[in-house]
Amino acid sequence: MNQLDPTTRVIRAGIGQETYGDVVAPLHLSTNFVSAKFGETPVFDYSRSANPTRALLGRAIADLEGGCDAVVTASGMAAITTVLEAFTPAGGTVIAPLDGYGGTWRLLDAQQRKGLLKLSLVDTSDLAAVAQACDDTVKLVIVETPSNPLLRVTDIAAVAELARARGAIVVADNTFATPMLQRPLELGADIVVHSATKYLAGHSDVVLGAVVAKSQEHFEQIAWWSNALGLTAGAIDSYLGLRGLRTLRLRMQAAQANAAEIAHLLDAHPAVSRVYYPGLPSHPGHELARRQQDGFGAIVSFEVADAAALAGRLRLFTLAESLGGVESLISHPATMTHASMPPDVQAAAGITPGLLRLSVGVEPIADLVADLTQALDEIA
Ligand SMILES: Cc1ncc(COP(=O)(O)O)c(C=O)c1O
Repeated sequence: MNQLDPTTRVIRAGIGQETYGDVVAPLHLSTNFVSAKFGETPVFDYSRSANPTRALLGRAIADLEGGCDAVVTASGMAAITTVLEAFTPAGGTVIAPLDGYGGTWRLLDAQQRKGLLKLSLVDTSDLAAVAQACDDTVKLVIVETPSNPLLRVTDIAAVAELARARGAIVVADNTFATPMLQRPLELGADIVVHSATKYLAGHSDVVLGAVVAKSQEHFEQIAWWSNALGLTAGAIDSYLGLRGLRTLRLRMQAAQANAAEIAHLLDAHPAVSRVYYPGLPSHPGHELARRQQDGFGAIVSFEVADAAALAGRLRLFTLAESLGGVESLISHPATMTHASMPPDVQAAAGITPGLLRLSVGVEPIADLVADLTQALDEIA
């Protein structure tokens, strides 16, 4: 099995392994498991600590990421919380991206206010800025690449080198790229986190997260903390996550092919003042993304004069939070995903009132192009 492509292994994960030879690994709802021998703990004893359905999904995600194992958490924020608890000693400095997901910023900011950590917000696509921030109090460096919502691209290998010199742990949020397009552990990161709610599960029907460790030692710390905090995912959610994960490759291929066309359409339209997509040669992270990624992904952000007017004219790009499902969505970061950031923090991150973010789905491209074109033409 090991010489197979990891995607093949994930598609086939669990086939025939259960008592009745199920082709699809069954859903283990049991919260607790029989102790066959007094005084001996079975592999699975209580589902908060470990559950067979969740463990199968964790191994599948780790396989795609090239990690040793993964803990599947109740959400992406639960994954980030687990990492912060496991690897940030009280008062330690955490470097985090200036323009990362708003919920990540909200958590880090709140923890800083409680005196639990010191937050250093940096444009991690700027290596000189990362080098300057990497003093000897740094314990954790979080990179989110491409970033949400401005698709900034961070050089994971270079940041990992800077962080390693300080003994800090590097955590990569790989939600946007997914392991189909980028494997941060191969580039030097220690930990990968996911909002598996997005592409990994892929159908906008489950909130889920994952923490993937490169080393067994880190995996054990993560597993310990996720159990202690009670942040692990439920069995039904894990089952849905695994069902979605099996088609990740196909979905990413279809969605990013659509996204590339849409990015070019937006780039050429007079109603659009700026497009953020790493696949465009004009994007500042284009060359790095070519080297570091196997594709440019399916999120495209752009600026127009009147974001509400455009969103209101679209029929297929549904105005909604989240991303990474098979359906196309549009969101307004300033009032939606990044609303928890006060205006000055949004401004520093580059989030403007005219910024819109598309999660391009897998619908036939002609329909998406027609919808966007009619809406853009009306506001031009
Ligand atoms: C890049 C990124 N990381 C983490 C999260 C948090 O994940 P969740 O919503 O599953 O808690 C999100 C959510 O949008 C995200 O976009």
